[in-house]
Amino acid sequence: MEIITDPASMQKLSKSLLSAGETIGLVPTMGYLHEGHISLIKKARKDCSMVIVSIFINPIQFGPGEDYGTYPRDTQRDRSMAEKAGADYIFKPSVKDMYPDKFSTFVEVVGLDSIMCGAMRPGHFRGVCTVVIKLFNIIYPDRAYFGLKDYQQYLIIKKMVKDLELPVKVIGCPIVREKDGLAMSSRNKHLSASERKSASILYKNLLLAKEKINNGENNLIKLKKICEENIKASADVLKVDYFDFRESETLEEIGTLKPEAGKKQIKKLLIAGAVRVGKTRLIDNLILNISNF
Ligand code: PAF
Repeated sequence: MEIITDPASMQKLSKSLLSAGETIGLVPTMGYLHEGHISLIKKARKDCSMVIVSIFINPIQFGPGEDYGTYPRDTQRDRSMAEKAGADYIFKPSVKDMYPDKFSTFVEVVGLDSIMCGAMRPGHFRGVCTVVIKLFNIIYPDRAYFGLKDYQQYLIIKKMVKDLELPVKVIGCPIVREKDGLAMSSRNKHLSASERKSASILYKNLLLAKEKINNGENNLIKLKKICEENIKASADVLKVDYFDFRESETLEEIGTLKPEAGKKQIKKLLIAGAVRVGKTRLIDNLILNISNF
């Protein structure tokens, strides 16, 4: 399987694929592939005649002191995993080619990008949107596949595509989990044995919140506190960045599920959290259908 590194050559290839009638599915990644990525590649393989996986650790989506320098890298491993899963090409540009000297254009989805992960990582989603739109302009995908572990990222990219009339269909794919429920992530590699044991505490509390709501709890402020305390009490958890209940499309924060006069009852509730286990930041979420309330 060919690895293309030059954006101009990738553009040329994509144009020729499209004029030959192919449909292009893009799986954007930062590499160090895991089963979550593989599920995206397999879905793209089913939907599209050509599958391109991009591998680019995007410096502009990392803040100062974040893990850009230590983000795991292994091109040979990525290549064989991507090929086995059915990818046709890998696009792996250099930082210099993506951001040449004097690069000064950025894309922001204002509002959605300043809450939850955006509040904790200022500028993160601006970096994500900028690289994703560049990838779209280099690869011309018909469809692009994103994991729903990064749910806020998925919503922001969908909004960018809608607002800017980009001719690409954004597809969100289910979270793939380890046996104990931990959402798969390239960053899990950094967890020590003891941190790895603690890491599923976030998912356990998402499930606990779901169970309590299903059993009739509607005070989400109280529930948030309980879950945050549970997570904080777990060994190796240094910080809970957030544990939020939000409407699943607008990301409006929800404090109660009690029907309120003049307020429309929400249909889908996003329960999402971000925690720091040792030096590793983990995120996870689930969506709860509450139309029965
Ligand atoms: O989700 C990721 O791996 C990255 O944020 C993405 C979408 C590849 C952009 O760098």
